[in-house]
Amino acid sequence: MSDPRRTLADIGDCVIDRRRFLAFTGALAGTALYAQARGDLALAAPPLNGYPFRLGVASGDPTPNRVSLWTRLASEPLVEGGGIPAQDISVRWQVATDSHFRHVEKSGTVAAVPELDHSVHVDVSGLRSGREYFYRFLTDRDESPVGRTKTAPGPRDHVRDLTFAFVSCQKWDDGFYSPYRRMAEEDLDLVVHLGDYIYEYGIGSGGVRKAKVPASFAPECFTLERYRLQHSLYKTDPDLQESHRLFPWMVTWDDHEVDNDYSGIFPEFENTSPEFLARRAAAYQAYFENMPVPLSAKPTEGAVQLYRRLSYGDIAEFNLLDTRQYRTDNPCGDGEQPPCDAGFDPSATMTGAAQEQWLLDGLERSPARWNVIAQGVLMGQLKHDADGGRFWNDSWDGWPGQRARVLQHIADAEVRNPVVITGDWHSTFVNDLRADYEDPSTPIVATEFVGTSISSNGDAEVYGPYYGPMIPFNPDIKFFDGDRRGYVRCRLDHDEWRTDLRMVSTVSKRNAHVSTFASFVVEDGQPGAKEV
Ligand SMILES: [Fe+2]
Repeated sequence: MSDPRRTLADIGDCVIDRRRFLAFTGALAGTALYAQARGDLALAAPPLNGYPFRLGVASGDPTPNRVSLWTRLASEPLVEGGGIPAQDISVRWQVATDSHFRHVEKSGTVAAVPELDHSVHVDVSGLRSGREYFYRFLTDRDESPVGRTKTAPGPRDHVRDLTFAFVSCQKWDDGFYSPYRRMAEEDLDLVVHLGDYIYEYGIGSGGVRKAKVPASFAPECFTLERYRLQHSLYKTDPDLQESHRLFPWMVTWDDHEVDNDYSGIFPEFENTSPEFLARRAAAYQAYFENMPVPLSAKPTEGAVQLYRRLSYGDIAEFNLLDTRQYRTDNPCGDGEQPPCDAGFDPSATMTGAAQEQWLLDGLERSPARWNVIAQGVLMGQLKHDADGGRFWNDSWDGWPGQRARVLQHIADAEVRNPVVITGDWHSTFVNDLRADYEDPSTPIVATEFVGTSISSNGDAEVYGPYYGPMIPFNPDIKFFDGDRRGYVRCRLDHDEWRTDLRMVSTVSKRNAHVSTFASFVVEDGQPGAKEV
């Protein structure tokens, strides 16, 4: 989502000063030493200075027998290299059925390597389904915090209910993560993050957090080292860490993990270039290094397999989409534009052909009661004026042909209870989704819940005054709120999906009250949400 306060003139200040040049050459020297050392059979692990688990722990992508565990070693998170020597560090991991680790079920040792910024990813398999587990990491001297996670129920298990939260858009310098502080008090099976985990913009000291940030954070992110620093800064937040520690997450990305409103290989406004491809590859690598994703999401030659499917017994199947990596360039131009015929060209795609086919095949075959499409950007139509003369093209309104094709297929295949969950907009929408927006007599085929931001836009009123007046032009938008921050809690049973909009009183302080601002239900077999 573009920030309306940001203009083209703000973008592109990447200054390589003397300090950064020295840091770069220093890193090269370290790499050479490291390469030399790897050939030495007698390589000994150096002692680590300082506590290396300052970025916390996380788990993700629970299946009935597997979960992915994550940590990254950093004793000084806000400096390049994280204060860890540029060589392999041996890290032990343990998974137990109790928080005191008296009953360790799985354990092993992995190398945290400097090529991956000493991140640790372990796909632990052979676990039992539908169970709570505890995990931790250990170096020679230190232990990580103890994380808690939960495997998914088995494919044939009857699951009475499932409770999860979904979140998006957590610009660190726009506010504290008070929604995460309150979310950590919930009893959740799962957290789904729908993108804008970091923002690529430069960060200065001061701001809402009144934080002192090193000068190395001032430039926008373009290089691997700079993206790594940005992830480190975000991960130092204690409320974000706690939510990772307590719940398994499923993550996908939107634009700001790389660059505002990019589409595939195309940056906003411009054509593709080797510089942009290098920037995207750097951002993708830093994302992998810092997320509790499976090893299958490790980048290969600048590409990442991020779209994936996870099932919860007979109650829900989650289709996590990647709506950025495979986009064709915006068929009708960037930003706010009138519609155009190219938006209906069959070759214009937000997901790429392979992902679209994978999604439709999976939805068609799914035996689940609720079929969740978890993805980045607004799927429902949002006319900016009464005549539908202008749309925001970074969302599915920029690819109306593919939207119609996907929704028509969902209708034709009689997919059971399709529900789309969405991030990006820093606003809440509840939408009826139709295959044919030109004909309001066509049936509603799915429901969309768009969650607000964790912190992006802070306590400012930005989108409410801008988008609020457009809502009356859009009868399929059943609810809109522009300027509250929070998370969305969803509780599913076999009869009903209930969505609670959990809004905090402020993100200008770490502590805030949370309350349910509004609630909606979708009944089994009846697409469309009703406010309760
Ligand atoms: Fe955002």
